[in-house]
Amino acid sequence: MNETMNILLNRCSVRSFKDEQINEDIINSFIEAGLKAASGGNLQPLSIIKITDEKNSKWFVDQGLQGFISKAPLNLLFCLDFNRLKKWAEYHNAPFVMDKSLRHFWISFQDVIIAAQSIETAANSYGVGSVYIGTTVDMIVEIQEKFNLPKGVIPIVLLTMGYPKNECKIANKLSKDIVVHNESYQEHTIEFINEEYFKKYGEPQQDLTDKLKTQIIKVVNEVDGPIKQKQVEEYLSKESKVSTPMRYFGLHYVANYMAKDNTGLLKTLDDNGLIWASLQNHPKK
Ligand SMILES: Cc1cc2nc3c(=O)[nH]c(=O)nc-3n(C[C@H](O)[C@H](O)[C@H](O)COP(=O)(O)O)c2cc1C
Repeated sequence: MNETMNILLNRCSVRSFKDEQINEDIINSFIEAGLKAASGGNLQPLSIIKITDEKNSKWFVDQGLQGFISKAPLNLLFCLDFNRLKKWAEYHNAPFVMDKSLRHFWISFQDVIIAAQSIETAANSYGVGSVYIGTTVDMIVEIQEKFNLPKGVIPIVLLTMGYPKNECKIANKLSKDIVVHNESYQEHTIEFINEEYFKKYGEPQQDLTDKLKTQIIKVVNEVDGPIKQKQVEEYLSKESKVSTPMRYFGLHYVANYMAKDNTGLLKTLDDNGLIWASLQNHPKK
């Protein structure tokens, strides 16, 4: 196996870091690798805020994000940046709609993530581990204020980085049997889907207590109404463990909150000049 495959097949998210700084040359080198990544039209609508000051990384924790963020020697905040390109285009009197175009957003978002992933892999090659922090989505405006991000510079994801304290625990993933479709999409049976997810997650572990039942029922009622609630109540009365999808969507990424969240996020994008996000342009059907 070559070294690149070795890194990719053995990667894992790291959430516990040694109290050890990362050498500046090494940081520069893995960031450089990220900047070589593919980019739509090679426009690179990306800015990275490099955070090494503990006061700044602790700020995320003070906002309610996970505690280990402040223990990491390096946090890279990946931002979609229309501000820089807009200034450049305007200076040359070029017509500019990147910020107003959902098409541009679609590609630019991919740009940011592709660069981030190159950095994760390049950092791994130096023994530096990391974890993506996506919950920054709940504090876009606050992050913009804190890190002086102008309108049109939108934080997408934080990459918390450092030398791992513990050995990497490689997470199970779906197999290519279910993910890869030869030539065209193949609708799988629910039995096969269940089997493959079971291989990935194993037997559900969490006991389905009355408290959890009440929590789940409340979410179901809000999302799908009273008829579905009755069905789910009956279903839960026969279960003793919380199924994996129920844990994900009923308790963790709570479905009622995740759906409600749309308006706030769209407004934030709209406030950043991304006018396609404006709700009045898309009346509810
Ligand atoms: C877009 C994205 C957002 C994520 N956000 C978080 C997060 O906010 N907190 C966290 O602890 N892990 C986060 N993760 C890490 C995932 O939990 C992790 O990748 C997943 O559990 C699989 O584990 P592995 O990375 O070790 O394979 C995120 C990962 C991705 C790709």
